[in-house]
Amino acid sequence: MKIPPPIKSMVAMFALLWVYLQTSVLKAQAVIAIETQNNALVLEVEKDKDLGIIYFGKKLARVDEYQLVPKVFKQPEDYTGLLNSAYTPSGSRNLMEPALSVTHADGNNSLDLRYVDHKQSNVADGVSLLSITLKDPVYDFEVMLFYKSYFKQDVVEQWSVIKHREKGEVILQKYASANLHLKAGSYWLNQYHGDWAKEMQPEEAKLTHGIKTLDSKLGTRANLFQPSVFMISLDKPATEDEGSVLYGALQYSGNFKIDLEVDLQDNLRIIGGINNYASSYSLKPGEEFITPAFLYTFSDKGKGDASRKLQSWARNYKLLDGNGNRLTLLNNWEATYFDFNENKLAELLKDTKKLGVDMFLLDDGWFANKYPRNDDRAGLGDWQENKQKLPNGIASLVKEAEANGVKFGIWIEPEMVNPKSELYEKHPDWVVKQAKRDEYYFRNQLVLDLANPKVQNFVYGVVDDLFTKNPDLAYIKWDCNAVIYNAHSAYLKNQSHFYIEYMRGLNNVLKKIRAKYPKVPMMLCSGGGGRVDYGALQYFTEYWPSDNTDPLERIFIQWEYSYFYPAIASSNHVTDWGKQPIKFRTDVAMMGKLGFDIVVSKLPENDLKFCQEAIKTYNDFKDVIWHGDQYRLSNPRENSVASILYVDEEKTSGVMFNYLVNNRYGESTKNPIKLKGLDPARKYKLREVNLYPGTSSWIDSNRVYSGEFLMKVGFNPEVTSGRTSVVVHIEEVK
Ligand code: GLA
Repeated sequence: MKIPPPIKSMVAMFALLWVYLQTSVLKAQAVIAIETQNNALVLEVEKDKDLGIIYFGKKLARVDEYQLVPKVFKQPEDYTGLLNSAYTPSGSRNLMEPALSVTHADGNNSLDLRYVDHKQSNVADGVSLLSITLKDPVYDFEVMLFYKSYFKQDVVEQWSVIKHREKGEVILQKYASANLHLKAGSYWLNQYHGDWAKEMQPEEAKLTHGIKTLDSKLGTRANLFQPSVFMISLDKPATEDEGSVLYGALQYSGNFKIDLEVDLQDNLRIIGGINNYASSYSLKPGEEFITPAFLYTFSDKGKGDASRKLQSWARNYKLLDGNGNRLTLLNNWEATYFDFNENKLAELLKDTKKLGVDMFLLDDGWFANKYPRNDDRAGLGDWQENKQKLPNGIASLVKEAEANGVKFGIWIEPEMVNPKSELYEKHPDWVVKQAKRDEYYFRNQLVLDLANPKVQNFVYGVVDDLFTKNPDLAYIKWDCNAVIYNAHSAYLKNQSHFYIEYMRGLNNVLKKIRAKYPKVPMMLCSGGGGRVDYGALQYFTEYWPSDNTDPLERIFIQWEYSYFYPAIASSNHVTDWGKQPIKFRTDVAMMGKLGFDIVVSKLPENDLKFCQEAIKTYNDFKDVIWHGDQYRLSNPRENSVASILYVDEEKTSGVMFNYLVNNRYGESTKNPIKLKGLDPARKYKLREVNLYPGTSSWIDSNRVYSGEFLMKVGFNPEVTSGRTSVVVHIEEVK
């Protein structure tokens, strides 16, 4: 067809305009900055539309200067153009650890991801969401990267949504939630390891070239040996108040994998997500694979500042009822173990009232009849009241609690089963096991197959039944004691989906419970702290850090957890573990959500009096502990005295906890401890509280100090071998 000249020139004009618009759009899109109050993660659409990270750190005043960052680094050749990829693909140009690795429907293993477009919007006050679409230029395969940023807390949650329209299933071999890329002189990893009763043991070391992986393959109770939380200090190990440090964590209760790779350019690539171990995922055309969120915050003011940001974020946005109240309680686990009946419980309910706490928590052992739950070898799965122990059922206990003026809570472990149970007999196909192999147990039990919707209904039913029959039930302790051996689902066709579908099943159940019971407090427990993560904590009000309640050990364990989780979520019980007197044990348990697990009736008179008074004192200042800012003043790993301070937002009051953690001769607070977080211009009085009956304080509560003095010179709580635990209440004087 012949086109007349005027039309021809119009076409040319439009073509020119289109090119201009395209380049200006591209120019405008070239740099995408995710900025929070102090920090920035800056992405750049590079030539050929690769999406790279050009900056991570303190934010700059001039956004246009971010583009200059790569130019001032003179690093060796990249070879791939992908070392700083915002989401590293595999099988094409990349030579490093990928974030995403796939086998296409036609069997091809290559992936390339190019920028298509992005959207940035405010989703709530101080919360923004950025989404970026990336596409493979050859295959109909797409990834959306999501960055949800919390301005005030400097926190970012990152996840990806993967989908395709190929002519068959695509196998996702690796599918990370996030991919970060940092530049620094050196990188110092602070990681954690542990075991039962030894949770959160820190180790800090310089990352060398190559890959360091933090991971779990335990399925459930995934944090038993290692949690996904970690810190990376830049250039030198950050201290409490100095240095640049990134905190990272995966919001997921299942298998995780965090790869930390120092590359040939000396940059650090962090790739975090679900562990792809035994878990390649077949994705149907049109189906979306949504990864869990990877969480990070960054501070150039040390580990303390980073932890306060994360704690504030958790209270405001993630932890269930993070700004609310909690119930103090008396638990019967260590007081009775499995050996109780209605009469004993009636006494314990009276003790609950006598002690002065809000609630009685009935632990393991209340259920199962054919195989009664009299020890941990039988009955798990049969959630009917044991008729011998509780002939009148839970309902009568809830009523009895009410008559005593206290609330009633109960322990369950609904994801698990003892082989010696009616549940196992009736539904052997609901159990995770390999039909042709011997069963292998963890604490004499197996895990139920939550990938199966029928099992999900059953687990939901355990909770729903309890609340339907006992509407006044006030609290649930949700335990999870076993890991997954012999991973196999009789329900699933594709066993590679098992670990993922288990977690999706658990998530479905918890979502459904929260839809019907949005507020009822629930404790996340896992044979101690085997499952503490923000994937789960959005459904739970608190967690159980460890079965180890020896107060000396707890000072260390709680200290480490506190970097990542707020005090309001930490369930701390006073028990008979350890050699310390009741005062020391109670003081330590007060640094979070206070509970007791002791035989109240056997307490010496003064011990009981002390506890009763301590609970009243706690009720007076628990608000500061639960909702205030936490400052670590003296590290038990570096000093003979551990000291921690909680200050309210208005800086008008606080509580300082001090403990002797070294029993060598003469150890004490020789030097004053510098306080933090106060107003230098205001005046404060400090008064010792939680005194054991008959003892008097060494602290002059009438002396007035300026905030400046307390923070520059410090305060001496006078901890000695005769005063091993000292709690000080701080109040502004007007
Ligand atoms: C786990 C929990 C304990 C207790 C027992 C009951 O070990 O961590 O607190 O509830 O189970 O069997």
